[in-house]
Amino acid sequence: MSNSLMIVEDEVLLGEELTHYYRKLDWDVWLARNLGEARRLLTDQHLEPLVVLSDMSLPDGNALDFFEQHGGRRPGCEWIFLTGYGTVADSVRAVRLGVYDFLEKPCDPNYLNLLLENAARCAHAQRRLTFETAQGNARYTPSVFVGDSPATIKLRQMLERLAQLPFSSLMLQGETGTGKGLAARVLHYSGLRHQGPWVELNSAALPRELVESELFGYEAGAFTGATSRHHGLLEQADGGTLFLDELGELDLGIQAKLLKAVEDKRFRRLGGKRDIQVEVQIIAASKRDLAKEVEAGHFRIDLYHRLAVFQLAIPPLRERKEDLRLLVPLLVEEFNAKAGKRVRVIAQAAWLALERYHWPGNVRELRNSIERCVLLAEDESLPHQWLGLPGTPIPSGNDSTVHLPLDGSLSLEQMEQRIIESALARADGNVTAAARLLKATRETLRYRIQKYHLTSSAK
Ligand SMILES: Nc1ncnc2c1ncn2[C@@H]1O[C@H](COP(=O)(O)OP(=O)(O)OP(=O)(O)O)[C@@H](O)[C@H]1O
Ligand SMILES: [Mg+2]
Repeated sequence: MSNSLMIVEDEVLLGEELTHYYRKLDWDVWLARNLGEARRLLTDQHLEPLVVLSDMSLPDGNALDFFEQHGGRRPGCEWIFLTGYGTVADSVRAVRLGVYDFLEKPCDPNYLNLLLENAARCAHAQRRLTFETAQGNARYTPSVFVGDSPATIKLRQMLERLAQLPFSSLMLQGETGTGKGLAARVLHYSGLRHQGPWVELNSAALPRELVESELFGYEAGAFTGATSRHHGLLEQADGGTLFLDELGELDLGIQAKLLKAVEDKRFRRLGGKRDIQVEVQIIAASKRDLAKEVEAGHFRIDLYHRLAVFQLAIPPLRERKEDLRLLVPLLVEEFNAKAGKRVRVIAQAAWLALERYHWPGNVRELRNSIERCVLLAEDESLPHQWLGLPGTPIPSGNDSTVHLPLDGSLSLEQMEQRIIESALARADGNVTAAARLLKATRETLRYRIQKYHLTSSAK
């Protein structure tokens, strides 16, 4: 995309020369010869140039007054003023009003070029940020946290309340795929800081040294390979939210540095000699129970208390299976739209399989299963044999085996749960028949069904 420029210049020769010159450099250029023309371009024709290069004194007024009357600086458009009679008072006022720069004529064309390019880059970046923020704001309201189980309703209400509070830190805890990342985005984008930046750090995804330099930034020469200054994530998140994903994986040494930065609201870049002040809201997420990690000496108690001012626990999907009734149709719709499918019917057997399964990967696993089914659908019904869940009735009906991964991902109890689920599904929900498959008594099976909360549709 080429850069756009509006030139406001009453000196005919200069105006045409500049227009010609920047068109040759591939800019889209509009020329206004006075403020009236500039006004018509901006308001009547809704021109939105990235950069405005304007003479200061024009036949019908002062361009700085015009700039001020038009609301001054707007993100996504930078103004540069040229003047023949620059006064100190004007330049001070220009800076105060948020003008990008102020040059005296005649100016060096190379310098002007550089300035215009930088201004355009700056305006581009602001537009991108505004666009992303607007998208985030529209996308992440508490209502995107779908589900009508009592636990999810309560969670949504908490998100709504918390989004209205100027909290400094908050901790989200929940198994993988329960929606911690989603909740964190909701809190930022519908919260008080939604205009500020949203910055993420996943401590599990990076080696220790990188986590430190990413978080705090560094000065040129701080270590081998640090060729230029790097602004860390704490700095980038100034005025907004820093999302510390997988907080439990953060190295103890970095925990100490982070605590100090959070408490003092200031820190130094690696190799830096100057304190940098920041105002950052921290949302941390962890799969592990950090209170237990504190007890085991793997997590600093002081940082834990500092960050856990508010705590939200997101229960696993198996403890709120009522949510499936809203989540599944919604996901089907989403993937219908993405893949151009028309799945409308979810058979009773599919619901049975979905509700019996214990969803160790929670909503993420559910999304993936539904996506697979929708993609493989050939007509209007969800082909639930593709759900890939243990306990899903196998179409041929003659498979009497149960698949259990021996890779440490399931505990003995979870395996037992899977076996019971599979037997129940194969017996079509009939407890007596399932007990027969398991060579157990009906009472024993009933007891286990209750223990694992598998009661909902077992007859
Ligand atoms: N209640 C919900 N309603 C709608 N979508 C949800 C809900 N909960 C989670 N999701 C979706 O499920 C997926 C997984 O959620 P998310 O990435 O937030 O989980 P997580 O807890 O951060 O997992 P991990 O610990 O593995 O990072 C995302 O696509 C998210 O949008
Ligand atoms: Mg996540």
